[in-house]
Amino acid sequence: MNFYTRKWIKPEDLNPNGSLFGGTLLRWIDEEAVIYAIVQLGNPHVVTKYISEINFVSSAKQGDIIEMGIEAVNFGRTSLTLRCEVRNKITRKTILSIEKLVFVNLDTDGNPTPHNKTEITYAYMGIEKTNK
Ligand SMILES: CC(C)(COP(=O)(O)OP(=O)(O)OC[C@H]1O[C@@H](n2cnc3c(N)ncnc32)[C@H](O)[C@@H]1OP(=O)(O)O)[C@@H](O)C(=O)NCCC(=O)NCCS
Repeated sequence: MNFYTRKWIKPEDLNPNGSLFGGTLLRWIDEEAVIYAIVQLGNPHVVTKYISEINFVSSAKQGDIIEMGIEAVNFGRTSLTLRCEVRNKITRKTILSIEKLVFVNLDTDGNPTPHNKTEITYAYMGIEKTNK
């Protein structure tokens, strides 16, 4: 799993308990995951279809640095399923895990359309490399 994005927990990210607000974390994850899906599928018309159980394993507090990890677990016909883990950057303690986030590849009319991808692609400066 690659951990791409880091966040520094600020006062505006907290709930009344003084720890990281779950809704804020989910917004960050949804954005992180859909960007991953858009890059993998090469299509900006991708939407979140399904998110499985969300396990808030431990909390984060103001000043913590967290990092979000995404991994592709299945390429379907029109869908891409990802797994997500968020952890404390310093202690590596897991903050949250989600086993399945399903994204659907759409055509310009908003209908599911095959993405014809079967494996992770690493695109650098317009040159596509696969992990074969
Ligand atoms: C995305 C959307 C177009 C899909 O429509 P649909 O009628 O479910 O489409 P399909 O039945 O053809 O399924 C599309 C893919 O999603 C998968 N899928 C559908 N329902 C699923 C579910 N509950 N769990 C996991 N995967 C699911 C299907 O298996 C299929 O994948 P595949 O082609 O790789 O096999 C439609 O549900 C939609 O517009 N949803 C709202 C999306 C949105 O606005 N997201 C933002 C969240 S606020």
